[in-house]
Amino acid sequence: MSLFKPALILALALPLAFAACNKPETETLKIENKAARKIVKDDKFTYANYDEIQVTHLDLNLNVDFERKILSGVATLDFEKPKVDADTLILDTKTLSISSVKVSNNVGESWTPVDYTLGKADPVMGQSLTIPLATDSTKVKVSYFTSPEAEGLQWLSPAQTAGKKKPYLFSQAQAINARTIAPLQDTPAVRLTYSARLTVPDGLRPLMSASQGELKDGVYQFDMPQPIPSYLIAIAVGDIKFKAINDHIGVYAEDYILEASVEEFSETPLMEAANTELYGPYRWGRYDLIVLPPSFPYGGMENPRLSFLTPTLVAGDKSLTNVVAHELAHSWSGNLVTNSSWRDAWLNEGFTSYVENRVMERLYGERRAVMEQALALEDLKRDIENADDPRLTQLKLPKDLEHPDDAFTQVAYVKGQFFLMFLEERFGREAFDPFLKSWFNDHAFQSVTTEDFIRYLHNNLHVNFPDALTKDELDAWIYEAGLPDTAANPQSDAFDKVSAQSERWLNEEITAREIETANWSTHEWLHFLNTLPDDLLQSQYKELDDTFNLTGTQNAETAFAWYMQTIKGHYDAALPALDNFLMTVGRGKFIYRLYGALDENKQARFAKQVYARARPGYHPIAQRRIDAILD
Ligand code: BES
Ligand code: ZN
Repeated sequence: MSLFKPALILALALPLAFAACNKPETETLKIENKAARKIVKDDKFTYANYDEIQVTHLDLNLNVDFERKILSGVATLDFEKPKVDADTLILDTKTLSISSVKVSNNVGESWTPVDYTLGKADPVMGQSLTIPLATDSTKVKVSYFTSPEAEGLQWLSPAQTAGKKKPYLFSQAQAINARTIAPLQDTPAVRLTYSARLTVPDGLRPLMSASQGELKDGVYQFDMPQPIPSYLIAIAVGDIKFKAINDHIGVYAEDYILEASVEEFSETPLMEAANTELYGPYRWGRYDLIVLPPSFPYGGMENPRLSFLTPTLVAGDKSLTNVVAHELAHSWSGNLVTNSSWRDAWLNEGFTSYVENRVMERLYGERRAVMEQALALEDLKRDIENADDPRLTQLKLPKDLEHPDDAFTQVAYVKGQFFLMFLEERFGREAFDPFLKSWFNDHAFQSVTTEDFIRYLHNNLHVNFPDALTKDELDAWIYEAGLPDTAANPQSDAFDKVSAQSERWLNEEITAREIETANWSTHEWLHFLNTLPDDLLQSQYKELDDTFNLTGTQNAETAFAWYMQTIKGHYDAALPALDNFLMTVGRGKFIYRLYGALDENKQARFAKQVYARARPGYHPIAQRRIDAILD
């Protein structure tokens, strides 16, 4: 019985050069040699006509101006034309000011200014930049500068840094903010190499998601020779120091946290080794980490060669390093093999969460891996319950997705992870591990769809084990809402023990002091806190707080879990510490839900009053999200 429709494969594999059969032969050959790929346009979050023209290389020559909070300079884009007679290049821009656009001749020696048009500004998409091309042109040069309000850039004053002496800049391009940094085809369907020259003020160090070339006269050179999607272009500039962990892994950070970070992340080489053993070589050269200022709105971001991390991971006990395992795992799932539109975000995040958990299991054993699965599953169930639109709980997201941000719920991460756990369970690790390794290998440096994966699964694994699963089971995971009943239910003995004690405390059989917490890991604390009932007595909150000093605790995950409970239970003694948390932590995963919970629990006044003070320090991405929550 065939579960899939192999006919689909043929449609995608059709050669493209035939479209050009009435062109001179040299031109056809040139296109074949350059291997421009026919892509079906399927990403609604880009203006780019990438089915006709594909940008293959971006060169940036930018000045980093901290006074005006702008990047200014020139972007030069090389492109190829799958549609040979395409005469217009459409790029994405958002809050960019364009000074001029020039088009090259074939050889790229002479440049002709052209009349470009900027489209109407859309709050999500930005503005299209439409450039008329001469028949023989292969490059365009755009002179431009960014806006101080660019959503993909945060400019910090010296006072907002730990060192207090030098300013700081960092970018966050995923999902669709690369277009606020440079004019480009801002879709993960298109891959490009990039190079950059950055001029920065004295005493500041620029870094990018690329290899660092030589420094000449205060100008820094960067190169990313492997084709990546635009959302992986990244930049950070600041008073940044470096310390090596080994010959190709190291940590960048401000001085105050460098030593602690090196210690916290000292097991990164083991993670890399585990990843490599499971899924093949690390293909990006160096792997460095940068610990950013606290306003970085994510736990981590998988910028190639240089993962960006929140300082809240530096907990002192390596308890939150699964985020490093996660960002490193993206070097295979996401960066090497990329979702071709945000509707397929689970191909990045679900695969990565699965790989992350396999690596954690290899390094720290099943006990920790299962605890992390169980915590993740609780989060997923909550997101599924709270989904406004059930279609947002499908792995393959609907065509009318409103904003790419809506693709990044626990569904992409955890339902995606549990789907791969389901496949692993049905086919067995012996077959599934090599299968996944060859998926990464066979699609290296390509952008892929959910349907590509399903087809590959069928042709390379399912045909060999036809009874392992049915089409209905598969469709339930990919195209139906909610959590399928074939999902694993991770059983953590450690958590069972925590729950048993929690129960006894709630039944007043023991006091808080008698709960055996001495050997609890952060994970066990999180399970304990997350599973407390919403309606504890004030005296019970106080007993927990007095016994365990939860209010003001330094571990950001534990603090977050505790404040979520105290908000629901109106335990107001925690409010000053919560205020401080919201003022000093910018990580979206925490602060969006804290502001949301305050708003839902009749604390909107408090929330707005804290936000008024905290907002200027938050990243533009976080500002936009919280503005919407507290509106
Ligand atoms: N790629 C994401 C971060 C991201 C998602 C940025 C969507 C912009 C839009 C990153 O790999 C990630 O998933 N980070 C998680 C950590 C992880 C362990 C779940 C985070 O930030 O919490
Ligand atoms: Zn991720």
